[in-house]
Amino acid sequence: MRVTSIGHAGLFIETRHGSVLCDPWFNAAYFESWFPFPSNRDIDPVWIGSPTYLYLSHLHHDHFDPRFLSEHVSKETTVLLPDYPLPLMERALVDLGFTRFVHTRNLEPVELDGLTVTIAAAVAPTDGPLGDSGMILDDGETRIFDQNDSRPLDLDALTALGPYDGHFLQFSGAIWYPMVYRFPEAKKSMLARKKRENQLQRALRYVEQVDAEFVIPSAGPPCFLDDDLFHFNDLDRDPTNIFPDQTVFLEFLAEHGREGGHGLIPGSTATFEDGACTVTHPMPEDEVRAIFTDKRAYLADYKAREESGIAAAKASWPRGQVDIPSSLRDWFEPLLEQADMTCIGVNGRLLLDCGEQATMIDFQARRVYPWRGEEWEYRLGLDPALIESCIVNGYEDWINQLFLSCRFEAERRGPFNEYVYNFFKTLTEERIQYAEGYYAEQFQDEQMWECGDYLVQRRCPHLKADLTRFGVVEDGILTCTLHGWQFELATGRCLTSDDRRLHSEPLDPARLAKAVASPEGAAGAEARRDLAEPAASSR
Ligand code: FES
Repeated sequence: MRVTSIGHAGLFIETRHGSVLCDPWFNAAYFESWFPFPSNRDIDPVWIGSPTYLYLSHLHHDHFDPRFLSEHVSKETTVLLPDYPLPLMERALVDLGFTRFVHTRNLEPVELDGLTVTIAAAVAPTDGPLGDSGMILDDGETRIFDQNDSRPLDLDALTALGPYDGHFLQFSGAIWYPMVYRFPEAKKSMLARKKRENQLQRALRYVEQVDAEFVIPSAGPPCFLDDDLFHFNDLDRDPTNIFPDQTVFLEFLAEHGREGGHGLIPGSTATFEDGACTVTHPMPEDEVRAIFTDKRAYLADYKAREESGIAAAKASWPRGQVDIPSSLRDWFEPLLEQADMTCIGVNGRLLLDCGEQATMIDFQARRVYPWRGEEWEYRLGLDPALIESCIVNGYEDWINQLFLSCRFEAERRGPFNEYVYNFFKTLTEERIQYAEGYYAEQFQDEQMWECGDYLVQRRCPHLKADLTRFGVVEDGILTCTLHGWQFELATGRCLTSDDRRLHSEPLDPARLAKAVASPEGAAGAEARRDLAEPAASSR
């Protein structure tokens, strides 16, 4: 097996049984904030553009680059899809013209003409953009785990799927915390130092658990080439910078007694053969080293090449085209209306502080309105152009556009609140319903609902929509109107798919006996089965 780094988390894997293109990222992401480091401009897109399989770990734009996929990757390629509850990735790829998909199941190996692929999918609202994953690839001779930036929890299952020859994983920061926070400098430095240490320690834990022969740092850090953000780069191995590079992690591994670490740059190849891993670089060793030892000069050159593109992109951001408070009111208030758990979780007011159009999102009153100086618990200070851009483009996940750009300032009165940022990645009915259902499952008591003569689970067994809002009952059949799945109240039987059931119990047992005995109920149910969207829409 030959694995070539194509930059950041991107890998081009060649085997005797076909090739896999993983997470190709070439175009600047997040409002021109992130660029691949080191640069991958010398990778030939034609060479990697017709792989046997395409694997995208998740939809963050440093892993999912729609422009590159659209322009350079054959639409004949078969896509390996992680087992995500919402079909967001499949939809995005269908929009780009891809038609061939392998729907994997979490941690279940799939045989593909000599290759065995197993994808570990993480699906909590906090995991990436509502889903993150890692892939185990086995060509019969070599087995690697491309963990990239996922955080798998079932380590026993991972171990059972081993042993591994190679382990590719993230070790550096990919977040805005704590740099954008308005903390006193000393506190910010202390938090950043801790964050840097935690990231390295977490990666070390995974390295120890997975216990591969060879470890290859990947999936970061990015570099920041805009003048406004250039100071985020870890130029001098600053212990208070959350973006340490590959060389720092490899030294950290060695200090902790882990041998077998290898650093790749774009174009480097790791060949796994007979229990060995041989690395070749696309340039002499001393030039590879200089990228990291003289990073300031390397990034200054890189910046000079990208400057005009960054300026052009910034000039294209919409300004003065949108009434921000009313647009957000029309967009967010219907979502807040159905976001019980989120609103309880945030339990405060969030100010989008963008100058004259400053807008308050009040999670307690579930209202969005122009800010008139009211108190807030959370404040995000940002350029109104970024919000206008999110509105004009209808971005459903602001983490995956705005927040990862690091182009904002954050302030809060109180501790970190996960619900705040999660809200901004669930900006459609489908997304908020999924997150709400997920939260509700953590609080089992909240789950039952009195539905006519039955006590039923409140969350739809399909994708967790709140049935008190989306459920419609007719002739003993509960229809969840979010995707049209149907359930027989008397039995809990799902009429749309065989792999789900609705927990349902009669408030009056005598009625249950009558309902089950009724032939009309079942016949009517079968007739309605075809009206629902196909089960495949959820995968
Ligand atoms: S969540 Fe899809 S039908 Fe209910």
